[in-house]
Amino acid sequence: MLAIAACSTYQGLPTPVGNTSWRTKLLPATPQRVEGNAEAGLAYLIYGDYIGSGIPYEFMKNRMLKKPDVILKREGLNANAQYMLNVFDAPNGAKVVNGNCFTCHASSFEGNIVIGMGNSFSDYRKSLLTAARVMHTGMNLKYSKQSKEWEAYEDFGHYFREMAPHIVTNQPGGNPAFRLAEACMNHRNPSDLTYQEKPNFEMSDYPVATDVPPLWHVKKKNALYYTGVGRGDFSKLLFQASVLGIPDSTAARKAVNNFNDVVAWLRTLEPPRYSKEIDAPLAAKGEALFTEHCSGCHGTYGAEETYPNKLVSLDLVKTDPLYATYGMQSGIVAWYNSSWFAQSEPRSWFVPDSGYIAPPLDGIWITAPYLHNGSVPTLEDLLNSPQRPVYWSRTGESAEYDYEKVGWRYERPEKPKGDWTFDTTLPGYSNQGHYFGDKLSKEERKAVIEYLKTM
Ligand code: HEC
Ligand code: HEC
Repeated sequence: MLAIAACSTYQGLPTPVGNTSWRTKLLPATPQRVEGNAEAGLAYLIYGDYIGSGIPYEFMKNRMLKKPDVILKREGLNANAQYMLNVFDAPNGAKVVNGNCFTCHASSFEGNIVIGMGNSFSDYRKSLLTAARVMHTGMNLKYSKQSKEWEAYEDFGHYFREMAPHIVTNQPGGNPAFRLAEACMNHRNPSDLTYQEKPNFEMSDYPVATDVPPLWHVKKKNALYYTGVGRGDFSKLLFQASVLGIPDSTAARKAVNNFNDVVAWLRTLEPPRYSKEIDAPLAAKGEALFTEHCSGCHGTYGAEETYPNKLVSLDLVKTDPLYATYGMQSGIVAWYNSSWFAQSEPRSWFVPDSGYIAPPLDGIWITAPYLHNGSVPTLEDLLNSPQRPVYWSRTGESAEYDYEKVGWRYERPEKPKGDWTFDTTLPGYSNQGHYFGDKLSKEERKAVIEYLKTM
């Protein structure tokens, strides 16, 4: 970590944390609210108003799909919206358009869109600041400040401009959702969530970003996010995406009740089953090895499902520490814990710590690349660390899956080239750590991978 900081040209990298005195911690469960309605939860995600404000529909009308979208098969004005957009009514009744959760939580696989799978194809390396300015100028030209449209756009306009400079990444596939939340919360009054020009805290310059976890893990988890920082009521935690445009805590209060249904929907999600043949005797050998070497952290699968909800210290897992360290030093923690999110019922709060959750491995065959920073392209590489590529590239959206190594088919360029090279030498993106597969023989590793396909 020190070495990384020393050779980097980035300002504002978080300070490394020293040795931790603990190895693993059990993340405690918090009682959740009464059961919601899963069907209503999905409907809210794909029709709902949880972002609060957005671009006038009139503005976007010509950019809608020519034919109805076949992925979500929605009705009304949403029928011709791309699956990652919602058309909805702002609090004043104006029709607006904004992104939905599936911008980041749905992804392309073998020509289909898998709902709930993290999108590892996004590219935030280009600044959205120009887009924010163009949009603002366009709004100014077309609508008066007194219009309904302007009122329904204004909050999103503020936050879009505030977050745009902070969500530029230095890696293709890196998702800056944490920075997005940080930048928006930085300009919200903690008690009533209204916009304020003056920032609440200082933000680091470093564009930290991560992979996106699959949503079908939520039902097993006691705490959310890679670091387990998200505690308490899940409906309140998930509502976090709304900081991008919700006007204030009154609108937030109304919207958050629907997230009880969203949590219910998340709990119904199942991972896609492995689509090729599995060698059952080999998988059975793998299961025994998995029980011996991996279950202590990742739990058991099949007939007897268990999941221990373990946070593993940076010292033990040894994967790139930057994301955890960043989270511990960000002003977002004090803001969140003093805000409407933590101070009103149902409460949610942040507990940052120097480790990563050992995640559930359900559907692990389809969720490459691996680790919280998406630095390892295949399971074979993950379980055999000397084999991990320093630079790897796949060919954009049409990238092929490798069912042998289980993960993305990739090339190993000598140095970063072209558009889509993942560079593990950048701060935050190292492919170090998780050496638990190294002690296995080649045959044993093959067996474990065969077993992982069954999850
Ligand atoms: C801009 C991209 C983006 C959008 C939009 C987004 N998310 Fe996420 N989401 C992420 C990323 C990245 C993470 C991983 C962050 C982490 O774990 O530290 C995440 C984490 C999560 C998790 C935690 C999963 C786990 O295993 O701990 C849940 C649940 C979740 N998001 C649900 C939602 C919902 C519901 C919405 C819409 C209301 C949403 N997200 C919108 C990018 C996004
Ligand atoms: C001491 C606890 C521990 C043990 C033992 C362990 N893991 Fe992990 N594993 C973790 C943690 C923590 C992470 C997340 C690290 C990160 O993202 O930086 C992880 C991540 C993974 C991932 C990537 C998950 C993803 O979605 O990207 C896979 C696959 C995995 N482990 C498989 C295994 C297998 C197979 C074994 C046994 C050979 C094993 N692990 C042993 C703690 C452990």
